[in-house]
Amino acid sequence: MTSTIVSPSATAAHDTFPINGTDYIEFYVGNAKQSAHYYRSAWGHQLVGYRGPETGVRDRASYLLAQDKLRLVLTSPIGPESDISAHVRAHGDGVHDMAFWVDDARAAHAAAMAHGAVSHQEPTVLRDDSGEVIIAAIKIYGDTIHSIVERQNYRGLFLPGFVAVDSPYQPAGTGLKYVDHCVGNVELGRMNTWVKFYEDVLGFVNILSFDDKTISTEYSALMSKVMSNGNGRIKFPINEPAAGKKKSQIDEYLEFYRGPGVQHIAIATDDIVKTVRELKSRGVEFLRVPTTYYETLLDRVGPIDEDVAPLAELGVLVDRDDEGYLLQIFTKPVQDRPTLFYEIIQRKGAKSFGAGNFKALFEAIEREQALRGNL
Ligand code: FE2
Repeated sequence: MTSTIVSPSATAAHDTFPINGTDYIEFYVGNAKQSAHYYRSAWGHQLVGYRGPETGVRDRASYLLAQDKLRLVLTSPIGPESDISAHVRAHGDGVHDMAFWVDDARAAHAAAMAHGAVSHQEPTVLRDDSGEVIIAAIKIYGDTIHSIVERQNYRGLFLPGFVAVDSPYQPAGTGLKYVDHCVGNVELGRMNTWVKFYEDVLGFVNILSFDDKTISTEYSALMSKVMSNGNGRIKFPINEPAAGKKKSQIDEYLEFYRGPGVQHIAIATDDIVKTVRELKSRGVEFLRVPTTYYETLLDRVGPIDEDVAPLAELGVLVDRDDEGYLLQIFTKPVQDRPTLFYEIIQRKGAKSFGAGNFKALFEAIEREQALRGNL
């Protein structure tokens, strides 16, 4: 299956405020110290910064992890009273913040508010010896937010309060480079609400849509629309469940996350075979499609640069659109609740999201759902 993508630059980009790219993604988790170890040992991220009681922040501990342009912050509450504790209690480990990097946070926040955003944090100046960061935030679906971060007058590590960590434990990287896209799951009937939010409040454009006939298996269905900012560096597909014979994977997520939230984060690599082989050797678990997928792969997608054998061995999927092809693979959920998972993606010209793989992929997800008793 091919899908036509509307280039955001071709549709009169009208961003409410310019976004340079993803600044960081912050997770609220039950035990950030141990989560950080998982992301270092299994994913090859480096621990580069820390903020917590030892650095004067009393209510939380945050670990800054990095690999190439990718920056994750893992935060845990120190006591039971905070919003962080409430987030973890309701959602389990999950994404709280997908932060935007901007040049003028005050102007960006004001523009978003003028276009109907709900503020989570008014522009706030954070200072230390390395300068100042201005940070604001707006609310999106569920308990999720977009921070808006201006750091042009900051020369420090990350954010004021974070101190550098120089750990003797520095596992090798796995070739992960940057966030390609982040997908949100929202409730039935709410997809278009959030599409309109990204259009009206942030000036994003809908570059691709999938209806429940595109994305359906024998048992379940979903609908999805992809929103992009003007420079294409921020891409947010938004899913909602559609009626099927059994419970949709989106319904399972909404039930266990206790509401809408981030479903998966796709991270780019330049060598998916090498990256996935390394991740697997360190214990990261991936979904498998039946081996029959590979028997007719080249008939479906045409010639590709890679040998099929290692793709089949690892379970890497391939899809083609008008502009090229892409290779992708999906992990199993990375916590006990069947909520957040990751995608590893290598783009070779394609700008789409692998629609040709949806059926095989969703059938793989449904096998896992059935094992959990949730289908
Ligand atoms: Fe994806």
